[in-house]
Amino acid sequence: MDKEDFKKQAGEEAVKLIEDGMTIGLGTGSTVEYTLRKIGQMIQEGFKIQGIPTSIRTKRIAKEEKIPLTTLDEHPEIDITIDGADEVDSNLNLIKGGGGALTREKIIAYNSKKVIIVVDDSKVVKALGIDFPLPVEVVRFGWTSTKKTLEAFGCNVALREIMKGEPFITDNGNYILDCEFDYIENPEQMEININCIPGVVENGLFINLVSEVIVGSQQGILTLEKEKTVV
Ligand code: A5P
Repeated sequence: MDKEDFKKQAGEEAVKLIEDGMTIGLGTGSTVEYTLRKIGQMIQEGFKIQGIPTSIRTKRIAKEEKIPLTTLDEHPEIDITIDGADEVDSNLNLIKGGGGALTREKIIAYNSKKVIIVVDDSKVVKALGIDFPLPVEVVRFGWTSTKKTLEAFGCNVALREIMKGEPFITDNGNYILDCEFDYIENPEQMEININCIPGVVENGLFINLVSEVIVGSQQGILTLEKEKTVV
């Protein structure tokens, strides 16, 4: 078994938490794609749910799978969101945004009664930022100044590009700055500090938003749980 098998294990396991009639936040990425494909099968078998996609990519997959879609504005109460992550720490805090969808993902997670994260075991880390740079979505205007301000936090900052000289553009029309730390000592405070910088739209730290993490591994499915803190 390899990493792809672990992703499939976790992604498919998550559908067991879905009940008929639910409004579901549909996450982004290659792990949650297994969840979306499985939901597609359930729809064919007569299951009735409605989904709110966190990205254009997920919207496309959901349409392929004939998952009925709605919007957060039409259905502001989401029963459950299932999404992937780039890193998970022991407090079930996350780094997300490897696919660039962090802003919509965070809005959807924040407005969900339950947030379920699906990952393979390589994503579980001792400290956030140790393996994966923190993505920060920024408006294009003045982005080099925003980059300099972020560098003052002691990280190396790179503009995300799809190829040399061509910046990656988010679904919201913005840039992503990837911030490489040795590790993030205080993720709770870092999330707040970064979001105070003018020009920053959102950052990929997900703090106290997760109810449960489903981990695919050589040992089978592991479940990490924590009560969701209501702010
Ligand atoms: C999308 O912006 C991300 O937050 C993804 O959820 C995250 O990168 C996990 O993706 P994979 O499951 O493809 O690793």
